[in-house]
Amino acid sequence: MTSIKNKIDILRKQILKYEYFYHKLDQPIVSDAEYDYLLHKLYNLELNNKEFITSDSPTQKIGSNLSNKFKKITHFYPMLSLDNTFDLKGYLDFERRIKKFFHVNVENSFCCELKIDGIAISIIYEDGKFIRAATRGDGFQGENITLNAKTIKSIPLKLTGLNIPKRLEIRGEVFMLKSDFLELNQTSTIKKNKYFSNPRNAAAGALRHIDPKITAERKLMFFCYSCCFFSETKKFTTHYEQLMQCATWGLPVNQEIKNCLNYKEVLDFYKKFEQKRHLLNFDIDGIVVKVNSIELQNKLGCNTKSPRWAIAFKFFSLERVTRLNNVIFQVGRTGVITPVACFEPVYISGVKIKKASLHNKNEIERLNLHIDDFIVICRSGDVIPKVLSVVKMRRSEHAKKIIFPVFCPVCNTNLLENKEERVIRCHAGLICDAQKKKSLYHFFSKKSLNVKGLGPKIINELVIKKFVNNPIDFFYLKSIDLIKFKTIGYKKSIEIVSSIKKCKKTTFKRFIYALGISNVGEVVSEKIANYFMTIDKLMNADVTDLNNVDGIGKIIAHNILNYFSTNSNYNMVLNLVEKIGISWSTQEMSIDKKITYFYGKKIVLTGTFESFSRTKLRTTLISLGAIILNNISQKTDFLIFGKKFGSKFFKAKLLKIKMINEEELKSLIK
Ligand code: IVH
Repeated sequence: MTSIKNKIDILRKQILKYEYFYHKLDQPIVSDAEYDYLLHKLYNLELNNKEFITSDSPTQKIGSNLSNKFKKITHFYPMLSLDNTFDLKGYLDFERRIKKFFHVNVENSFCCELKIDGIAISIIYEDGKFIRAATRGDGFQGENITLNAKTIKSIPLKLTGLNIPKRLEIRGEVFMLKSDFLELNQTSTIKKNKYFSNPRNAAAGALRHIDPKITAERKLMFFCYSCCFFSETKKFTTHYEQLMQCATWGLPVNQEIKNCLNYKEVLDFYKKFEQKRHLLNFDIDGIVVKVNSIELQNKLGCNTKSPRWAIAFKFFSLERVTRLNNVIFQVGRTGVITPVACFEPVYISGVKIKKASLHNKNEIERLNLHIDDFIVICRSGDVIPKVLSVVKMRRSEHAKKIIFPVFCPVCNTNLLENKEERVIRCHAGLICDAQKKKSLYHFFSKKSLNVKGLGPKIINELVIKKFVNNPIDFFYLKSIDLIKFKTIGYKKSIEIVSSIKKCKKTTFKRFIYALGISNVGEVVSEKIANYFMTIDKLMNADVTDLNNVDGIGKIIAHNILNYFSTNSNYNMVLNLVEKIGISWSTQEMSIDKKITYFYGKKIVLTGTFESFSRTKLRTTLISLGAIILNNISQKTDFLIFGKKFGSKFFKAKLLKIKMINEEELKSLIK
């Protein structure tokens, strides 16, 4: 039980800290979604452990941002908050509660609006004249920001039209357009003013500025989302009608409002704006669903914090601020060093994230990362975690800059930068344990030699316990060696050994791919296999040979040459073939291919074709056994040319190489 109390205490402290930064300093350190997530967690814990609820718990009060800068105003009606949910289940619970309240299955109409991410204010109009404005404050008392609110252009100082009541309270959201926010931050950085982390903070700072002139400069906006009458000049039956009336009095009302009859319509509205939110020029953090009938609203009433007739159906925030704990430098299979940011875990779209790749040295420099920095994380394309930026304002004076290492973090070899590929590499190859583990895993993986049972964990153990150093060692493993590992039973050990034995019969392209040469993936391996046909031709190829292979450019050719010019690699490949007996049928292609016109022919393509795309033509010819080359040489068998052919056509003519046009090609393929 004490551990639950502890959990509750820790959560409360955390939430109170976040509230302090949000309300008192106008500088949130976590996103709304994360704050709501924690509050929800606390709420649920308290719900099941009511004995631990205290009156000062964040679940029991409405957040307050009262300062001494402004005079206080007591609201005529308390300004409550909204209950909220992040998922359909929470929304359906809300509908169920309403239906239960009326003890009948009332077919209800709900009014859906956008939840503008700004600052709530109340404005009092008397005889249509703007009298005063206040912030929400603690919900009962707010700050008198009349002079500031009067500078907001979209708020009318005088209402127009008919049926204007003697006294009217308008409630709505003050916010800043995203475009104005970006402009403000740009000029702020130039003038070395305060940097704002999002449009809502910028709007809050402007609205609560001591000097209304500054408020005016910052171009704030306003949307009205509700009104309270003191005496009605007209009877309204729905919330929607009230909003339409506000609009005709000249108040700005956001036009994206929809009356929905059932949860499916509500969900459609939610989904539509979840997708569209980034296209709007103002931030929204969800939708607000309100019972439309005023009579039902009055019957439902409110609890201490929020009305029972409305709910905020919130979107997951797509960006989060969190603390960078460290940057680790991972060594990849081909020795490429990749920096990875490790940070305090955050939830984005419901997924816990604690790491994000920083890709390369440039990215660290772009971000100018320091340890303990507060960083903004997003899921790019809504999937891959990415570090967007650093909240520079919050960097401590003594923060340590992240420096890209000079030596390999695993084997201590001097790292070398390859400017062309824009990567930094450890060139120790299989001497580096990190590369060894990954290369060995790759060598036996599904697309390579396809040995079953050799996952990364087992390979790691085999390397650590020095059972294996290179691919050759695997072929000498016995089941008795493997049984020594905790995770391998007798049956599995037999399976692994037999699978290793079987993998000796493979294909040339798989074998090339298994070597794990940089940038030599499946497609390139196939092209190389088709071109060279035998391993000794490949091992002794020069740049011109390699460049002749379609799809192989300068970088890949260099990587292949580099690979075979390293003695240990050359000998290993030789041993794998000669001693271990890895083999493939000399002609991997099927008999069908051998009898085609194109089998084994070196072909160059030029121009565009009516019946094929270039890729389609290439794959068709390869499937028929052809070897596609980039450049014309004496060795070329045919040039296949289409319309708009290039210089290859003339070169082929000069060298008297057989030329095939599209018509001939089609009949030959048939
Ligand atoms: S109705 C009882 N409608 O969201 C409160 N609120 O998290 C009734 N908000 O304090 C509020 N857009 O500042 C309502 N269309 C909208 C809204 C909206 C933004 C804000 C408002 C409120 C907060 C609750």
